[in-house]
Amino acid sequence: PLSTTKNGNRNKNTTRRKESTMSRKIHIFDTTLRDGEQVPGAKLNRRQKLEIAEQLARLGVDVIEAGFPCSSPEDLKAVQTVAEQVKGPVIAGLARAVQQDIDIAWEAVKKAERPRIHVFLGSSDIHLQKKLRRDRESALQQAVEAVKYAKKYCEDVEYSTEDASRSDFEYLCRVIEACIRAGATVINVPDTVGYALPEQYGELIRNLREKVPALDKVILSVHCHNDLGLAVANSLAAVRNGAEQVECTINGVGERAGNASLEEIVMAIRTRESFFDAHTTINTREIYRTSRMVSRLMNIPVQPNKAIVGSNAFAHSSGIHQDGILKDRSTYEIIRPEDVGIKAHSLVLTARSGRAALRHRLKELGYELTDEQFQRVHKRFLNVADRKKEISSQDLATIVEIELTKV
Ligand code: KIV
Ligand code: ZN
Repeated sequence: PLSTTKNGNRNKNTTRRKESTMSRKIHIFDTTLRDGEQVPGAKLNRRQKLEIAEQLARLGVDVIEAGFPCSSPEDLKAVQTVAEQVKGPVIAGLARAVQQDIDIAWEAVKKAERPRIHVFLGSSDIHLQKKLRRDRESALQQAVEAVKYAKKYCEDVEYSTEDASRSDFEYLCRVIEACIRAGATVINVPDTVGYALPEQYGELIRNLREKVPALDKVILSVHCHNDLGLAVANSLAAVRNGAEQVECTINGVGERAGNASLEEIVMAIRTRESFFDAHTTINTREIYRTSRMVSRLMNIPVQPNKAIVGSNAFAHSSGIHQDGILKDRSTYEIIRPEDVGIKAHSLVLTARSGRAALRHRLKELGYELTDEQFQRVHKRFLNVADRKKEISSQDLATIVEIELTKV
């Protein structure tokens, strides 16, 4: 049977938990600023990237992938700014397995407290034949040379076997072994096109651990896309089978259908900690604020029924559920809203609430608005409040998003 937390599924620990000596730590690698930023229309300027990176540091992520520095001079500068100013997490820059990209990636991250160069190259026959027009052996050689080259600059080098889930298993093992020998400190096994299924992907991770003992000397990472809606399920299956780093994004933003959603991975591991026998060191009370910030700055609304951070994620509407919740919240709630930073408020916001109360709540939610923005939010607030008895924090966040993203 599935195990549950001691208190019947509802983990009452607060925010950043103490590192347990018993359970494995899962490293959270956030790629909102790289894979997430590849979404059309989500381009961030330097100031916006820095604002999100600072918030990711408060959230407690282990690694921030700040960009793909060779993609544009502006991205190079943005990654440099993050590397110079954001303290705490490892700051990574992505590079193809070619010298010029690696040179630029190093230029971008070299001033970070803890820099990482992240190199990738396709490993599936589909990528090798149809995209790179290479044979397996020369691609393997290129991977090894790229890792050795990156290693001259930086101790911490991550190597990604792009399209790993569609690669020949024996070849994948050979590439991974050779890259570890060349000095890679992290090996990432991406499900680049979201093709894997949870059982199969979990088995891939388990088999890699078995067949490549050298993986015990490095961090084994996973990176799942959501084309079949399985990115989170696949990542969690990988964690169960020995992955130690999960690559993910806030609100699941990313190429096509997106990446695995950070908030879902973190809260699943936390809510079902004994099942995973693992933990993260994310400060979960910063989740909601981070989600709102990313949605606002990237101009990508969060769907109302999105797990953990959607406006309906903690809303109980049916009479039976409301009755249960009033008797004991654990009847219909497996996560306390305050554990992800959604506050329970004594101050109820209604159409009669004054501007001061509205300003106060906006500040609590992390919104610093100009006077002009506040006037617009206030006007919309009054319109909505005329129709609804009470305005929740989620309603308010939606109002602000609508007003701030209006051109
Ligand atoms: O999806 C993918 O394979 C990637 C790699 C660059 C890690 O984003
Ligand atoms: Zn990706």
